[in-house]
Amino acid sequence: MEKKVILKVENLKQYFKLDRKSKVKAVDDVSFEIYEGETFGLVGESGSGKTTIGRSIIRLYNITGGNVKFDDKQASGKISKEERSSIARNMQMIFQDPMACLNPRMNIRDIVAEGIDIHKLAKSKEERDELVYAILNKVGLSREHAGRYPHEFSGGQRQRIGIARALITNPKLVICDEPISALDVSIQSQVVNLLKKLQKELGLTYLFIAHDLSMVRYISDRIAVMHKGKIVELADAEELYNNPLHPYTQSLMSAIPTPDPKSEKERARFNYDPSQHKYEEDKPSMREITPKHFIYCNEEEFNAYKENMKKGN
Ligand SMILES: Nc1ncnc2c1ncn2[C@@H]1O[C@H](COP(=O)(O)OP(=O)(O)O)[C@@H](O)[C@H]1O
Ligand SMILES: [Mg+2]
Repeated sequence: MEKKVILKVENLKQYFKLDRKSKVKAVDDVSFEIYEGETFGLVGESGSGKTTIGRSIIRLYNITGGNVKFDDKQASGKISKEERSSIARNMQMIFQDPMACLNPRMNIRDIVAEGIDIHKLAKSKEERDELVYAILNKVGLSREHAGRYPHEFSGGQRQRIGIARALITNPKLVICDEPISALDVSIQSQVVNLLKKLQKELGLTYLFIAHDLSMVRYISDRIAVMHKGKIVELADAEELYNNPLHPYTQSLMSAIPTPDPKSEKERARFNYDPSQHKYEEDKPSMREITPKHFIYCNEEEFNAYKENMKKGN
């Protein structure tokens, strides 16, 4: 069956001016597509531009360059008020630190109902309450929680509130920005399992952002690896794990702890040195090395990767 593309990001650039002379290329010419119903993992160290991609997609910034399409419709640049509202309803974001985005003076009812109020999704106060209770239920909380305030909840519960708040508008795409990074390890898998359950029940598509590869492997269908504003490798999750090619991906792989104490002791970590690339004349671009496996490299590197793969077989 032909997969439907729900989000298409083309040559996205997001530069931030620091002062009159300097700027940060937070996202620098990034392209990818997300299929309806999949989980697309976006991985890279802190500062690589992951959050900026998410925020650019949901129009929190005026993008510096490129194009975003959502559901076959133009989603970036100048679009009508109706289209902006439709995008706001259909794309939601979940954040790493829910406390930072939950207003401490608002109770859970009003926090979760914000999307209902903005998009006028309820005709009465009763209907608004019922929608809030239903979504609280879905994320493993109850209507008794609606009158309480953010500080009365644990980290895991607050993330559930953040998820409820995002899902109240019935979005198609949810951008999960390191939603488990701030949580205790014991809570992380609960939240991941909840996200998986909700994805199945509601037919959601996820852009799942993480700074390491350990968890995304298990939840992503495909994974893009980012380094300093660029995607350096993109492949099916299993393919990326079994056959990481870009040295930066390999360095991320070497950073994953192994459960076995003996091999963990012997685990060799290595660092990526970007100066190994010689890009002055032979310019890099995204090249497809095997079907659906893309790598950011120049011609010479591409040929070397191919040679190595042949030897490996
Ligand atoms: N609003 C902003 N103004 C200026 N620089 C920013 C802004 N947001 C992010 N940056 C810079 O852009 C780069 C990418 O940041 P970010 O997208 O937050 O990375 P990540 O989410 O991968 O940690 C960083 O160098 C960061 O300092
Ligand atoms: Mg971030």
